[in-house]
Order: sequence, then structure tokens, then C-alpha cells
Amino acid sequence: MSLQAVRYRRGSLQILNQRLLPEHSVYEEIPDVQAAWRAIREMQVRGAPAIAIVGCLSLAVELHQREEGASREDLASFALESLGHLVTSRPTAVNMARAAQELSDFVTREVKRPDSTAESFKENLICRIEAMLDKDIQDNKSIGNHGAKHIISRAKTEKVIILTHCNTGSLATAGYGTALGVIRSLWSMGCLEHVYCTETRPYNQGARLTAYELVHDKIPATLIADSMVSMAMKEKGISAVVVGADRIVANGDTANKIGTYQLAIAALHHRIPFYVAAPSSSCDLTLESGGQIVVEERPGKELTDFNGARIAAPGINVWNPAFDITPHSLITAGIITEFGVHEPGELRKALTDNAHRDTSHTC
Ligand code: MRU
Repeated sequence: MSLQAVRYRRGSLQILNQRLLPEHSVYEEIPDVQAAWRAIREMQVRGAPAIAIVGCLSLAVELHQREEGASREDLASFALESLGHLVTSRPTAVNMARAAQELSDFVTREVKRPDSTAESFKENLICRIEAMLDKDIQDNKSIGNHGAKHIISRAKTEKVIILTHCNTGSLATAGYGTALGVIRSLWSMGCLEHVYCTETRPYNQGARLTAYELVHDKIPATLIADSMVSMAMKEKGISAVVVGADRIVANGDTANKIGTYQLAIAALHHRIPFYVAAPSSSCDLTLESGGQIVVEERPGKELTDFNGARIAAPGINVWNPAFDITPHSLITAGIITEFGVHEPGELRKALTDNAHRDTSHTC
């Protein structure tokens, strides 16, 4: 059975609390927008695509619960306010901001339609949000397929060994995953020998979540500490590095989980192809280069404490950026989106050319 980070049916949303994994699989009810905001901020749900999906679905749930009698204008201002609030939950991943922009545009158009009623407005907005779930899974499967084929076509061996970072799987998305989706596709094609996944300090998304997904899918994998990546590249026959992204800007510079940048530097030194895998919804063409990305800084406790126990010397200062920016020049093998594999310099054109293929729809 596939892992489900998000359980949704009309009027009800539950998320698998990722802070409790892998020991406990507990689904938490998300009854409204404020509960989603908190779950995102506290990282009970995390991963750029999953953040956007849970944020938007919480709006669908709250809209569905709204008693009859509200005017379409009331519903529209509630939706716009909620979307604006959700964007403030975490700053680096662009997916929530992009989804909020797209839905806000939709709301503004819909509320002006002369034939729209409060009921039809609500129904169309909920349907629009629900479509995001299926689209994300479909996009991830395309990313997996494009990435796997590209890696195989360039590999020197019949089966490949992949190194990945953080968690980019079913838990970080609506399902299947981005970089982990590429790994899943390689595995289902019979072309994957082994995966190395990093622990991903300080929050351990690799050790807690990616390792959990790999074991769940019975994919042969080994966990390494982040400090072991250069050694692994030298000794373990890594064929390619594939990571996810939280925001890819117009020139291809990529914000991803802290530690990605050093992985890319080490991969270049060892002449190992370095890929970024992410849906086009993680791309932000409004920013020209990585220096413009706001990098979230998280509480020092995530570094000084482990499982509730202090491990660092009391009194020490802490710097805890949650992401780093990998310059496009280090993304040597390409950026994998649902449209294909692009050189960083071709990203803008690829996204613009494919923009008309947007499949989001109302019911
Ligand atoms: O802080 P997180 O766990 O929300 O970080 C997001 C990530 O999982 C990664 O950076 C990932 O590579 C991008 S999301 C598929």
C-alpha cells in the first residue's frame, strides 16, 4: 500500500503527523485554515508541494463547513484572507505562494461572473483546490519517468546507484514524490541497484522519513550522515545525485534543504551528474537569481536538542538556516520537471512554452 501523507474527502482533511514518524503513525484532523497554518509552521506537514496542498485543502474544508447564508462576496474575502495568511507560514518554498496567487486570481474572476451564486462560487473553488491533489501525483509520475530515462541514458552501468538528500517522497508531496519519485521510477523499471540517503541534519528528514519510505517500498538503501557524502562519492560508485527543490528561480539557482549546496560541490569534484527534480509549481520566474530567495531560519533548539534532550553545550550560539541555495552552474545534469529535463539556462523557456498545458480545472 502506498504511503499517504494527506487523507482528504470533501469536508474532512487529515495529515500524517511527520514529527512523530517513524515511531508513530498518527493522523491529525485539520478542521480549518488556522490548524493548517500551525501544522505547516510546526512541520507536522512539510515538503514544498505538501505544504501547498494541505494549506489549500484546509481552505476547501473550511469553505465546505461554512453555513449557508454567506454571500459570494463574503466567501471571496474569506478565501483571499485565508490564502494571504497561509503564505506566511513558511517563507522559502514557493509552492504555497504560487497556489495562493493562482487561487486568488480565480476567486477574483469567479466573484465577478454575473451568473455566479454563493453556492456555485463555493463549489467551483473547492473543485479547483481538489484538482491539485491529482495533478501533483500526475506531475510527480512524469518527473519520475523523465528523470529515470535521462539517468539511464547517460549511465555507464546497467543499474544505477543514486544519492539523495532530505525527504522528497510521498510524505513531501501528494504522493509518489519528486527526487524520490525518480528513484521509485528507476526501481520499477528494474534499473536501480542501490540508494544512499542522507540523514539530513538537523531535522533528520532523511533518517526519519526517506529511510521510512525506502524501507516501506523495499528499495535497497543505506543511510549515511551528511558528513559522509564526499566519502560515499569516492567509494560507493554513485551514478547520480538527485535532490528536490523548494524554489527554483529563473536562472536555475535552487533553494533546497540545507546541505544540498555542499552535495553539489562534492558531486562536481567527483564528476557525478547532479540533478534537481521538482514540479513547475516549485519554480519562481519572478526572481532572477538565488540571492533574492528568503531563506528560513529555524529555532536553535533543532540543532542543540535531540528528541527532547539537550546535546549541545549550554550557552553556545546557534545559526540554523533551513535551506541553502545551489547555484545553477553546479546543477550539471539538469532540472527535471513534469515537462522533461532542462538545462538550467533553458528553464524559463521550457516553463513558458509549456504554460498552456496547465491542466487545472473546475468540476
Ligand atoms: O523543511 P522541509 O522539510 O519542508 O524541507 C523541504 C524538503 O523536504 C526539501 O528541501 C525537499 O528537497 C523539497 S520538497 C519535495
